Amino acid sequence: MPALGAREAAGVVGDVLLPVLAGGVIVRRPRAMSLVERTGWDRRGVERMRALRERYGPGPLPLTVRGRAYAVVLDPEDARRVLLETPEPFSPATLEKRSSLAQFQPHGVLISGGGERARRREFVEQVLETPRPLHETAGRLTAVVREEAGLLLEGAERSGQLRWEEFDAAWWRIVRRVVLGDAARDDTALTAQLGALRSAANWSLAGPRRRRLRSAFLSRVRSYVAQAEPGSLAERVARTPAPTGTDRAGQIPHWLFAYDAAGMATMRALALLATHPQSAGQAHQEATAGDPDAPRELPFLRGCALESVRLWPTTPLILRESTAETSWAGGTLPAGTVFALYTPYLHRAEPAAPYGDAFAPGQWTEETGREARTNPALVPFSSGPAGCPGENLVLLTVSTLLAALLERHTYSLASHPQLRASAPVPATLDHFALRFRVDAGC
Ligand code: HEM
Repeated sequence: MPALGAREAAGVVGDVLLPVLAGGVIVRRPRAMSLVERTGWDRRGVERMRALRERYGPGPLPLTVRGRAYAVVLDPEDARRVLLETPEPFSPATLEKRSSLAQFQPHGVLISGGGERARRREFVEQVLETPRPLHETAGRLTAVVREEAGLLLEGAERSGQLRWEEFDAAWWRIVRRVVLGDAARDDTALTAQLGALRSAANWSLAGPRRRRLRSAFLSRVRSYVAQAEPGSLAERVARTPAPTGTDRAGQIPHWLFAYDAAGMATMRALALLATHPQSAGQAHQEATAGDPDAPRELPFLRGCALESVRLWPTTPLILRESTAETSWAGGTLPAGTVFALYTPYLHRAEPAAPYGDAFAPGQWTEETGREARTNPALVPFSSGPAGCPGENLVLLTVSTLLAALLERHTYSLASHPQLRASAPVPATLDHFALRFRVDAGC
Protein backbone atom coordinates (compact mmCIF):
# COMPACT_ATOMS: atom_id res chain seq x y z
CA MET A 1 0.00 0.00 0.00
CA PRO A 2 1.39 3.43 -0.83
CA ALA A 3 2.62 5.23 2.30
CA LEU A 4 2.11 8.94 3.01
CA GLY A 5 4.94 11.19 1.83
CA ALA A 6 7.31 12.84 4.30
CA ARG A 7 5.43 16.17 4.31
CA GLU A 8 2.04 14.62 4.93
CA ALA A 9 3.46 12.28 7.56
CA ALA A 10 4.97 15.33 9.29
CA GLY A 11 1.51 16.96 9.20
CA VAL A 12 0.00 13.94 10.96
CA VAL A 13 2.76 13.98 13.56
CA GLY A 14 2.29 17.72 14.14
CA ASP A 15 -1.50 17.81 14.28
CA VAL A 16 -2.35 14.39 15.72
CA LEU A 17 0.56 12.85 17.59
CA LEU A 18 2.10 15.94 19.20
CA PRO A 19 -1.01 17.26 20.97
CA VAL A 20 -1.68 13.76 22.34
CA LEU A 21 1.92 13.42 23.57
CA ALA A 22 2.05 16.99 24.89
CA GLY A 23 -1.21 16.63 26.85
CA GLY A 24 0.24 13.50 28.48
CA VAL A 25 -0.73 9.96 27.46
CA ILE A 26 -0.54 8.30 30.87
CA VAL A 27 -1.13 11.30 33.12
CA ARG A 28 -2.41 14.64 31.84
CA ARG A 29 -0.18 17.71 32.14
CA PRO A 30 -2.14 20.80 33.25
CA ARG A 31 -0.14 23.43 31.36
CA ALA A 32 -0.11 21.44 28.14
CA MET A 33 -3.85 20.71 28.40
CA SER A 34 -4.51 24.43 28.66
CA LEU A 35 -2.31 25.08 25.62
CA VAL A 36 -4.01 22.36 23.56
CA GLU A 37 -7.40 23.82 24.45
CA ARG A 38 -6.44 27.45 23.72
CA THR A 39 -4.86 26.67 20.36
CA GLY A 40 -7.61 24.34 19.06
CA TRP A 41 -4.90 21.76 18.38
CA ASP A 42 -7.26 18.75 18.64
CA ARG A 43 -9.61 20.28 16.06
CA ARG A 44 -6.69 20.55 13.65
CA GLY A 45 -6.02 16.83 14.13
CA VAL A 46 -9.60 15.95 13.18
CA GLU A 47 -9.47 18.26 10.14
CA ARG A 48 -6.13 16.77 9.08
CA MET A 49 -7.65 13.27 9.10
CA ARG A 50 -10.73 14.44 7.25
CA ALA A 51 -8.55 15.93 4.49
CA LEU A 52 -6.43 12.77 4.22
CA ARG A 53 -9.51 10.59 3.98
CA GLU A 54 -10.90 12.79 1.18
CA ARG A 55 -7.61 12.57 -0.67
CA TYR A 56 -6.67 8.92 -0.16
CA GLY A 57 -9.95 7.16 0.62
CA PRO A 58 -10.81 5.04 3.66
CA GLY A 59 -7.32 3.60 4.25
CA PRO A 60 -5.79 2.33 6.47
CA LEU A 61 -3.22 5.03 5.76
CA PRO A 62 0.38 3.84 6.17
CA LEU A 63 3.07 6.24 7.37
CA THR A 64 6.51 5.92 8.90
CA VAL A 65 7.47 7.84 12.02
CA ARG A 66 11.08 7.60 13.20
CA GLY A 67 11.50 4.28 11.41
CA ARG A 68 8.37 2.69 12.86
CA ALA A 69 5.51 1.66 10.53
CA TYR A 70 2.07 3.00 11.47
CA ALA A 71 -1.30 2.77 9.70
CA VAL A 72 -4.08 5.18 10.61
CA VAL A 73 -7.48 3.48 10.67
CA LEU A 74 -10.14 5.82 9.25
CA ASP A 75 -12.95 3.50 8.31
CA PRO A 76 -15.43 2.28 10.97
CA GLU A 77 -15.50 -1.25 9.53
CA ASP A 78 -11.70 -1.42 9.62
CA ALA A 79 -11.83 -0.19 13.23
CA ARG A 80 -14.28 -2.98 14.03
CA ARG A 81 -12.01 -5.55 12.39
CA VAL A 82 -8.86 -4.41 14.21
CA LEU A 83 -10.58 -4.46 17.61
CA LEU A 84 -12.37 -7.76 17.01
CA GLU A 85 -9.31 -9.56 15.67
CA THR A 86 -7.42 -8.82 18.88
CA PRO A 87 -5.02 -10.12 20.22
CA GLU A 88 -4.13 -12.08 17.04
CA PRO A 89 -3.15 -10.68 14.60
CA PHE A 90 -3.70 -7.27 16.27
CA SER A 91 -1.90 -7.26 19.61
CA PRO A 92 -2.76 -4.58 22.19
CA ALA A 93 0.69 -4.97 23.78
CA THR A 94 2.51 -2.55 21.48
CA LEU A 95 6.09 -1.54 22.21
CA GLU A 96 4.90 1.99 23.14
CA LYS A 97 2.48 0.66 25.77
CA ARG A 98 4.84 -1.97 27.14
CA SER A 99 7.61 0.52 27.73
CA SER A 100 5.43 3.12 29.43
CA LEU A 101 2.94 1.02 31.43
CA ALA A 102 5.66 -1.26 32.80
CA GLN A 103 6.60 1.70 35.01
CA PHE A 104 3.73 0.86 37.34
CA GLN A 105 2.00 -2.33 36.10
CA PRO A 106 4.64 -4.70 34.71
CA HIS A 107 2.16 -7.61 34.73
CA GLY A 108 -0.97 -5.74 33.62
CA VAL A 109 -3.22 -7.55 31.15
CA LEU A 110 -2.98 -4.75 28.59
CA ILE A 111 0.73 -5.34 28.09
CA SER A 112 0.64 -9.14 28.40
CA GLY A 113 0.78 -11.59 25.52
CA GLY A 114 -0.16 -15.19 24.64
CA GLY A 115 -1.51 -17.52 27.32
CA GLU A 116 -0.59 -15.05 30.06
CA ARG A 117 -2.89 -12.43 28.52
CA ALA A 118 -5.75 -14.93 28.31
CA ARG A 119 -5.38 -15.95 31.99
CA ARG A 120 -5.05 -12.37 33.23
CA ARG A 121 -8.00 -11.21 31.13
CA GLU A 122 -10.20 -13.99 32.50
CA PHE A 123 -9.22 -13.11 36.07
CA VAL A 124 -9.82 -9.37 35.54
CA GLU A 125 -13.25 -10.02 33.99
CA GLN A 126 -14.22 -12.18 36.95
CA VAL A 127 -13.18 -9.63 39.56
CA LEU A 128 -14.66 -6.63 37.72
CA GLU A 129 -17.79 -8.62 36.74
CA THR A 130 -17.37 -7.18 33.27
CA PRO A 131 -20.81 -7.85 31.74
CA ARG A 132 -22.87 -6.74 34.77
CA PRO A 133 -24.31 -3.22 34.94
CA LEU A 134 -24.94 -3.64 38.69
CA HIS A 135 -22.13 -5.44 40.46
CA GLU A 136 -22.01 -7.57 43.60
CA THR A 137 -20.24 -4.61 45.21
CA ALA A 138 -22.81 -2.08 43.93
CA GLY A 139 -24.47 -1.59 47.34
CA ARG A 140 -21.24 -0.61 49.05
CA LEU A 141 -20.08 1.41 46.04
CA THR A 142 -23.32 3.41 46.10
CA ALA A 143 -22.93 4.14 49.81
CA VAL A 144 -19.29 5.21 49.40
CA VAL A 145 -20.03 7.46 46.42
CA ARG A 146 -22.99 9.13 48.15
CA GLU A 147 -21.10 9.70 51.37
CA GLU A 148 -18.13 11.34 49.61
CA ALA A 149 -20.46 13.33 47.33
CA GLY A 150 -22.25 14.65 50.43
CA LEU A 151 -18.98 15.90 51.92
CA LEU A 152 -17.94 17.44 48.62
CA LEU A 153 -21.27 19.25 48.35
CA GLU A 154 -21.04 20.58 51.91
CA GLY A 155 -17.83 22.32 50.87
CA ALA A 156 -19.38 23.52 47.60
CA GLU A 157 -22.33 25.01 49.48
CA ARG A 158 -19.99 26.90 51.79
CA SER A 159 -17.89 28.34 48.94
CA GLY A 160 -20.69 28.53 46.35
CA GLN A 161 -18.50 26.79 43.82
CA LEU A 162 -17.08 23.46 42.70
CA ARG A 163 -13.60 23.41 41.24
CA TRP A 164 -11.51 20.59 39.78
CA GLU A 165 -9.14 20.59 42.77
CA GLU A 166 -11.84 19.73 45.33
CA PHE A 167 -13.57 17.32 43.01
CA ASP A 168 -10.34 15.47 42.25
CA ALA A 169 -9.50 15.00 45.94
CA ALA A 170 -13.01 13.60 46.61
CA TRP A 171 -12.82 11.42 43.50
CA TRP A 172 -9.60 9.77 44.63
CA ARG A 173 -11.08 9.10 48.07
CA ILE A 174 -13.92 7.28 46.30
CA VAL A 175 -11.53 5.33 44.06
CA ARG A 176 -9.27 4.25 46.92
CA ARG A 177 -12.25 3.12 49.01
CA VAL A 178 -13.92 1.24 46.13
CA VAL A 179 -10.76 -0.46 44.93
CA LEU A 180 -8.71 -0.95 48.10
CA GLY A 181 -11.14 -0.47 51.00
CA ASP A 182 -11.98 2.21 53.58
CA ALA A 183 -8.54 1.85 55.16
CA ALA A 184 -7.10 3.44 52.00
CA ARG A 185 -9.47 6.43 52.04
CA ASP A 186 -6.84 8.96 53.06
CA ASP A 187 -3.82 7.22 51.59
CA THR A 188 -2.93 10.15 49.37
CA ALA A 189 0.70 8.99 49.47
CA LEU A 190 -0.28 5.94 47.41
CA THR A 191 -1.94 8.15 44.79
CA ALA A 192 1.12 10.40 44.79
CA GLN A 193 3.39 7.39 44.21
CA LEU A 194 1.21 6.30 41.33
CA GLY A 195 1.26 9.88 40.00
CA ALA A 196 5.06 9.98 39.99
CA LEU A 197 5.24 6.62 38.21
CA ARG A 198 2.67 7.76 35.65
CA SER A 199 4.66 10.94 35.00
CA ALA A 200 7.70 8.79 34.24
CA ALA A 201 5.49 6.59 32.04
CA ASN A 202 4.50 9.65 29.96
CA TRP A 203 8.00 9.57 28.52
CA SER A 204 7.63 5.99 27.27
CA LEU A 205 11.03 4.62 26.17
CA ALA A 206 12.82 7.86 27.00
CA GLY A 207 11.68 7.95 30.64
CA PRO A 208 13.79 7.05 33.67
CA ARG A 209 13.02 3.64 35.24
CA ARG A 210 11.74 4.22 38.79
CA ARG A 211 12.22 0.67 40.07
CA ARG A 212 12.46 1.46 43.80
CA LEU A 213 9.39 3.64 43.73
CA ARG A 214 7.55 0.99 41.74
CA SER A 215 8.32 -1.74 44.23
CA ALA A 216 7.28 0.51 47.17
CA PHE A 217 4.01 1.31 45.39
CA LEU A 218 3.30 -2.31 44.47
CA SER A 219 3.95 -3.59 47.98
CA ARG A 220 1.55 -0.96 49.36
CA VAL A 221 -1.12 -2.17 46.91
CA ARG A 222 -0.44 -5.78 47.98
CA SER A 223 -0.86 -4.87 51.65
CA TYR A 224 -4.45 -3.77 50.93
CA VAL A 225 -5.14 -7.07 49.16
CA ALA A 226 -3.78 -8.88 52.21
CA GLN A 227 -6.27 -6.93 54.40
CA ALA A 228 -9.09 -7.88 51.97
CA GLU A 229 -11.65 -5.43 53.29
CA PRO A 230 -15.20 -6.75 52.65
CA GLY A 231 -16.94 -5.11 49.69
CA SER A 232 -13.74 -3.76 48.13
CA LEU A 233 -12.29 -4.91 44.82
CA ALA A 234 -9.16 -5.87 46.77
CA GLU A 235 -11.24 -8.44 48.63
CA ARG A 236 -12.57 -9.86 45.35
CA VAL A 237 -8.96 -10.08 44.14
CA ALA A 238 -7.96 -11.94 47.30
CA ARG A 239 -10.76 -14.51 47.02
CA THR A 240 -10.77 -15.10 43.24
CA PRO A 241 -8.49 -18.01 42.35
CA ALA A 242 -6.15 -17.73 39.36
CA PRO A 243 -3.36 -19.83 37.86
CA THR A 244 0.22 -19.14 39.00
CA GLY A 245 1.77 -16.24 37.15
CA THR A 246 -1.47 -14.26 36.87
CA ASP A 247 -0.20 -11.77 39.47
CA ARG A 248 -3.65 -11.01 40.83
CA ALA A 249 -2.73 -7.93 42.88
CA GLY A 250 -0.55 -6.76 39.99
CA GLN A 251 -3.73 -6.05 37.98
CA ILE A 252 -4.86 -3.38 40.46
CA PRO A 253 -2.48 -0.56 39.41
CA HIS A 254 -4.20 -0.36 36.00
CA TRP A 255 -7.58 0.00 37.69
CA LEU A 256 -6.38 2.86 39.91
CA PHE A 257 -4.75 4.58 36.94
CA ALA A 258 -7.79 4.12 34.68
CA TYR A 259 -10.25 5.37 37.29
CA ASP A 260 -8.56 8.76 36.92
CA ALA A 261 -10.06 9.02 33.41
CA ALA A 262 -13.49 8.37 34.86
CA GLY A 263 -13.08 11.38 37.17
CA MET A 264 -12.34 13.58 34.16
CA ALA A 265 -15.35 12.12 32.37
CA THR A 266 -17.59 12.91 35.36
CA MET A 267 -16.62 16.58 35.58
CA ARG A 268 -16.88 16.99 31.81
CA ALA A 269 -20.33 15.36 31.84
CA LEU A 270 -21.32 17.85 34.54
CA ALA A 271 -20.09 20.68 32.28
CA LEU A 272 -22.22 19.34 29.42
CA LEU A 273 -25.27 19.10 31.66
CA ALA A 274 -24.67 22.58 33.09
CA THR A 275 -24.83 24.02 29.57
CA HIS A 276 -27.60 21.86 28.05
CA PRO A 277 -30.80 22.59 30.00
CA GLN A 278 -33.00 20.01 28.33
CA SER A 279 -30.61 17.18 29.12
CA ALA A 280 -30.10 18.59 32.61
CA GLY A 281 -33.87 18.31 33.18
CA GLN A 282 -33.85 14.67 32.10
CA ALA A 283 -30.81 13.95 34.26
CA HIS A 284 -32.42 15.57 37.29
CA GLN A 285 -35.58 13.54 36.76
CA GLU A 286 -33.59 10.31 36.67
CA ALA A 287 -31.48 11.31 39.68
CA THR A 288 -34.58 11.91 41.82
CA ALA A 289 -36.56 8.82 40.74
CA GLY A 290 -36.43 5.70 42.92
CA ASP A 291 -34.48 5.06 46.11
CA PRO A 292 -31.21 7.00 45.83
CA ASP A 293 -29.51 4.82 48.45
CA ALA A 294 -30.12 1.62 46.47
CA PRO A 295 -27.92 0.78 43.47
CA ARG A 296 -29.62 1.99 40.28
CA GLU A 297 -28.87 1.55 36.57
CA LEU A 298 -29.46 5.22 35.61
CA PRO A 299 -29.37 4.76 31.81
CA PHE A 300 -29.56 8.44 30.90
CA LEU A 301 -26.70 9.38 33.22
CA ARG A 302 -24.69 6.47 31.83
CA GLY A 303 -25.40 7.95 28.39
CA CYS A 304 -24.04 11.29 29.64
CA ALA A 305 -20.85 9.58 30.83
CA LEU A 306 -20.46 7.81 27.48
CA GLU A 307 -21.02 11.07 25.61
CA SER A 308 -18.41 12.77 27.74
CA VAL A 309 -15.85 10.13 26.71
CA ARG A 310 -17.05 10.10 23.10
CA LEU A 311 -16.63 13.87 22.77
CA TRP A 312 -13.36 14.02 24.71
CA PRO A 313 -11.83 10.54 24.43
CA THR A 314 -9.52 9.72 27.30
CA THR A 315 -7.70 7.25 24.99
CA PRO A 316 -7.26 9.38 21.86
CA LEU A 317 -5.10 6.74 20.19
CA ILE A 318 -6.07 3.07 20.49
CA LEU A 319 -3.06 1.13 19.24
CA ARG A 320 -2.66 -2.45 18.00
CA GLU A 321 0.54 -3.98 16.62
CA SER A 322 0.12 -6.63 13.91
CA THR A 323 1.77 -9.98 14.52
CA ALA A 324 1.41 -11.07 10.86
CA GLU A 325 0.99 -9.55 7.41
CA THR A 326 -2.59 -8.25 6.97
CA SER A 327 -4.65 -7.72 3.80
CA TRP A 328 -6.81 -4.69 3.08
CA ALA A 329 -8.83 -3.43 0.12
CA GLY A 330 -5.82 -1.40 -1.09
CA GLY A 331 -3.10 -4.05 -0.54
CA THR A 332 -1.16 -5.66 2.32
CA LEU A 333 0.65 -4.28 5.36
CA PRO A 334 3.61 -6.07 6.93
CA ALA A 335 3.75 -7.67 10.38
CA GLY A 336 4.88 -5.16 12.98
CA THR A 337 2.66 -2.35 11.68
CA VAL A 338 1.10 -0.27 14.47
CA PHE A 339 -2.58 0.35 13.68
CA ALA A 340 -3.79 3.62 15.21
CA LEU A 341 -7.44 4.37 15.82
CA TYR A 342 -7.54 8.14 16.29
CA THR A 343 -10.74 8.40 18.28
CA PRO A 344 -11.26 12.20 18.06
CA TYR A 345 -11.74 11.68 14.30
CA LEU A 346 -13.84 8.51 14.58
CA HIS A 347 -16.03 10.04 17.33
CA ARG A 348 -16.53 13.49 15.80
CA ALA A 349 -16.19 13.49 12.01
CA GLU A 350 -18.31 11.73 9.33
CA PRO A 351 -18.07 8.27 11.00
CA ALA A 352 -19.92 9.74 14.01
CA ALA A 353 -22.89 11.07 12.01
CA PRO A 354 -25.52 12.23 12.73
CA TYR A 355 -24.37 13.61 16.11
CA GLY A 356 -20.69 14.52 15.53
CA ASP A 357 -20.04 17.68 17.56
CA ALA A 358 -23.36 17.61 19.43
CA PHE A 359 -24.05 16.38 22.97
CA ALA A 360 -26.47 13.50 22.39
CA PRO A 361 -26.70 11.21 25.45
CA GLY A 362 -29.92 9.69 24.10
CA GLN A 363 -27.97 7.86 21.41
CA TRP A 364 -26.67 5.51 24.13
CA THR A 365 -30.00 4.67 25.79
CA GLU A 366 -32.58 2.02 25.04
CA GLU A 367 -35.23 4.60 24.18
CA THR A 368 -33.48 5.73 20.98
CA GLY A 369 -32.57 2.19 19.90
CA ARG A 370 -28.93 2.34 21.05
CA GLU A 371 -27.72 3.80 17.76
CA ALA A 372 -24.28 4.50 19.16
CA ARG A 373 -23.76 0.89 20.27
CA THR A 374 -24.18 -0.34 16.70
CA ASN A 375 -21.75 2.19 15.19
CA PRO A 376 -18.26 0.61 15.16
CA ALA A 377 -16.67 4.07 15.00
CA LEU A 378 -17.83 4.96 18.51
CA VAL A 379 -15.48 3.20 20.90
CA PRO A 380 -15.11 5.31 24.06
CA PHE A 381 -14.21 2.13 25.96
CA SER A 382 -12.69 0.35 22.96
CA SER A 383 -14.42 -2.96 22.15
CA GLY A 384 -13.77 -6.60 21.31
CA PRO A 385 -11.69 -9.13 23.28
CA ALA A 386 -9.40 -6.40 24.71
CA GLY A 387 -12.14 -3.80 25.18
CA CYS A 388 -12.31 -2.15 28.57
CA PRO A 389 -13.36 -4.77 31.14
CA GLY A 390 -14.12 -1.96 33.60
CA GLU A 391 -16.72 -0.17 31.45
CA ASN A 392 -19.76 -1.19 33.48
CA LEU A 393 -18.01 -0.48 36.75
CA VAL A 394 -17.03 2.98 35.50
CA LEU A 395 -20.54 3.71 34.28
CA LEU A 396 -21.98 2.60 37.62
CA THR A 397 -19.54 4.80 39.57
CA VAL A 398 -19.91 7.87 37.35
CA SER A 399 -23.69 7.72 37.01
CA THR A 400 -24.13 7.20 40.77
CA LEU A 401 -21.92 10.21 41.49
CA LEU A 402 -23.65 12.39 38.89
CA ALA A 403 -27.03 11.43 40.40
CA ALA A 404 -25.83 12.40 43.88
CA LEU A 405 -24.50 15.74 42.61
CA LEU A 406 -27.65 16.57 40.64
CA GLU A 407 -30.29 15.46 43.14
CA ARG A 408 -30.57 18.70 45.09
CA HIS A 409 -28.08 21.07 43.44
CA THR A 410 -27.84 23.01 40.19
CA TYR A 411 -24.66 24.00 38.40
CA SER A 412 -23.69 26.81 36.07
CA LEU A 413 -20.39 26.69 34.29
CA ALA A 414 -18.18 29.56 35.43
CA SER A 415 -15.23 28.51 33.23
CA HIS A 416 -15.32 27.74 29.49
CA PRO A 417 -17.76 30.27 27.97
CA GLN A 418 -17.46 28.50 24.60
CA LEU A 419 -19.48 25.51 25.86
CA ARG A 420 -23.11 26.29 24.88
CA ALA A 421 -26.13 24.26 23.77
CA SER A 422 -26.33 26.32 20.55
CA ALA A 423 -22.68 25.79 19.53
CA PRO A 424 -20.67 22.70 18.45
CA VAL A 425 -19.03 21.08 21.47
CA PRO A 426 -15.37 22.23 21.51
CA ALA A 427 -12.73 19.67 20.55
CA THR A 428 -10.84 19.97 23.86
CA LEU A 429 -12.12 20.58 27.37
CA ASP A 430 -9.35 21.22 29.85
CA HIS A 431 -10.78 19.51 32.92
CA PHE A 432 -8.19 21.08 35.24
CA ALA A 433 -9.75 24.49 34.57
CA LEU A 434 -13.37 23.47 35.16
CA ARG A 435 -15.28 25.56 37.69
CA PHE A 436 -18.99 25.66 38.50
CA ARG A 437 -21.24 27.95 40.52
CA VAL A 438 -23.34 25.72 42.76
CA ASP A 439 -26.86 26.41 44.04
CA ALA A 440 -28.46 24.20 46.64
CA GLY A 441 -32.10 23.25 47.05
CA CYS A 442 -33.59 22.48 43.64
C1 HEM B 1 -13.58 6.62 31.86
C2 HEM B 1 -12.87 5.59 32.28
C3 HEM B 1 -12.27 4.57 31.38
C4 HEM B 1 -12.18 4.57 30.02
C5 HEM B 1 -12.67 5.63 29.04
C6 HEM B 1 -11.52 3.34 29.64
C7 HEM B 1 -11.24 2.99 28.33
C8 HEM B 1 -10.43 1.93 27.99
C9 HEM B 1 -9.89 1.71 26.69
C10 HEM B 1 -10.13 2.62 25.47
C11 HEM B 1 -9.15 0.59 26.74
C12 HEM B 1 -8.36 -0.04 25.60
C13 HEM B 1 -6.91 0.44 25.70
C14 HEM B 1 -6.03 -0.12 24.63
O1 HEM B 1 -6.40 -1.01 23.88
O2 HEM B 1 -4.87 0.37 24.54
C15 HEM B 1 -9.22 0.09 28.09
C16 HEM B 1 -8.59 -1.05 28.54
C17 HEM B 1 -8.67 -1.50 29.83
N1 HEM B 1 -9.39 -0.94 30.86
FE1 HEM B 1 -10.46 0.75 30.79
N2 HEM B 1 -11.24 2.62 30.76
C18 HEM B 1 -11.68 3.32 31.84
C19 HEM B 1 -11.60 2.94 33.16
C20 HEM B 1 -11.24 1.69 33.57
C21 HEM B 1 -11.33 1.22 34.93
C22 HEM B 1 -11.84 2.04 36.12
C23 HEM B 1 -10.85 -0.04 34.94
C24 HEM B 1 -10.75 -1.01 36.09
C25 HEM B 1 -11.43 -0.92 37.20
C26 HEM B 1 -10.42 -0.35 33.60
C27 HEM B 1 -9.81 -1.52 33.20
C28 HEM B 1 -9.23 -1.72 31.97
C29 HEM B 1 -8.34 -2.83 31.66
C30 HEM B 1 -7.88 -3.91 32.62
C31 HEM B 1 -7.99 -2.68 30.31
C32 HEM B 1 -7.08 -3.60 29.51
C33 HEM B 1 -7.92 -4.66 28.86
C34 HEM B 1 -7.14 -5.67 28.03
O3 HEM B 1 -6.04 -5.35 27.56
O4 HEM B 1 -7.66 -6.76 27.83
N3 HEM B 1 -10.68 0.72 32.80
N4 HEM B 1 -10.01 0.92 28.83
